[in-house]
Amino acid sequence: VSVVDYNFQVATSTGAYTVNIGRGILHDALKHVDCLILDQQLAVDVGHNLNDVVLVDAGESLKTLDSCSLLLAQIKERGLTKSELLGACGGGSVQDVATLAASLYMRGVQWEFFPSTAMAALDSCIGGKSAINVGSYKNLAGNFYPPAQVTIDVALLDNLPSTAISAGLAEAVKICFARGAGAFTTFLELQSTSESGTSMPISTALVEYVLLHKAWFVEVDEFDRAERQLLNFGHTFAHALEAASGFAVPHGIAVAYGVTAACLHPLATEGALVSELIEYNCRLVGASDYPPDVVSKSVDSERFSQYLNSDKKGTPESLMFILPGPQGKLERVLVPRGAETQTQARTALSDALQVLEG
Ligand SMILES: NC(=O)c1ccc[n+]([C@@H]2O[C@H](COP(=O)([O-])OP(=O)(O)OC[C@H]3O[C@@H](n4cnc5c(N)ncnc54)[C@H](O)[C@@H]3O)[C@@H](O)[C@H]2O)c1
Ligand SMILES: [Zn+2]
Repeated sequence: VSVVDYNFQVATSTGAYTVNIGRGILHDALKHVDCLILDQQLAVDVGHNLNDVVLVDAGESLKTLDSCSLLLAQIKERGLTKSELLGACGGGSVQDVATLAASLYMRGVQWEFFPSTAMAALDSCIGGKSAINVGSYKNLAGNFYPPAQVTIDVALLDNLPSTAISAGLAEAVKICFARGAGAFTTFLELQSTSESGTSMPISTALVEYVLLHKAWFVEVDEFDRAERQLLNFGHTFAHALEAASGFAVPHGIAVAYGVTAACLHPLATEGALVSELIEYNCRLVGASDYPPDVVSKSVDSERFSQYLNSDKKGTPESLMFILPGPQGKLERVLVPRGAETQTQARTALSDALQVLEG
């Protein structure tokens, strides 16, 4: 049976959009889409009997201006008009390029997103951001163009590799921790009740809980100027880790490491909640099928420092870290760029590697 378990609205400056969450709801929801951008990996499950599908090859190479312009031509070939609905089904990379394409096609058409990865379902589907890689610069260009609707069928997540589940949950726990002690504690409860064995299945209740909190950040700070920046918790480390590994480490796994490093940073405040967060990230890394010492092996600490220093957040003089303060409440901390800051960050990273990789 196809039932929407939850739905709620997200307010934006250009109007509200609805988020639907259920199991087995995709088939019906796709009926009102006029042209669908579809991750080709999902073609057999989702798209074999649909007309007007544009299949794409997901991943970082999809997130370019060239593939966006190819996509625009393919949508035009499928005959989509300005008053019709564009759909996109896939993970974060499909979302990033579809957001941009929807905003540009005939100066903007309505679109609906159907997330197919844990990362997209638990985090990126709310917020309306696109991001495109330009040359070697990851996520350099982008805009805000929220979908008209988001429909999440958790059945799509059933066959994800365990690393992809851990990656999505790393962002999810970060969101709830950033929202406060109550949200973090409830997240852990919801997660343990939906857990069986070593796998970590994702229930509709968990998705709704996490996205309501993500929506809170996005609603109070749509354009990422204040509160929403707390969602960058762990990301200064994570981005440097990803780049220093030549993007061998997936983003969500880098976030689990980055959040742990931020918790262990000398300027962070220790406490029971912070310890629980570190422990949860250990479980995520342990549950992934990622080789245990791969991060320490693939990250050169010189390159880590270089990438850390080139982080786009912060100011010319200072780097910005989001760190736990008293009672685990996250704070934005500006530290002057320089040798001491680099030493602190490298110490935090090596402590995190110790904890996560043993
Ligand atoms: N726009 C935003 O706000 C935002 C936020 C976070 C991350 N992102 C971006 O999202 C990307 C990472 O997200 P992602 O991991 O979802 O990436 P992705 O879209 O690259 O998907 C990863 C892999 O999973 C496969 N896949 C997709 N759905 C599947 C399914 N149901 N079962 C099995 N395999 C499936 C894809 O084909 C691909 O090989 C990054 O490029 C990141 O920059 C964007
Ligand atoms: Zn992230």
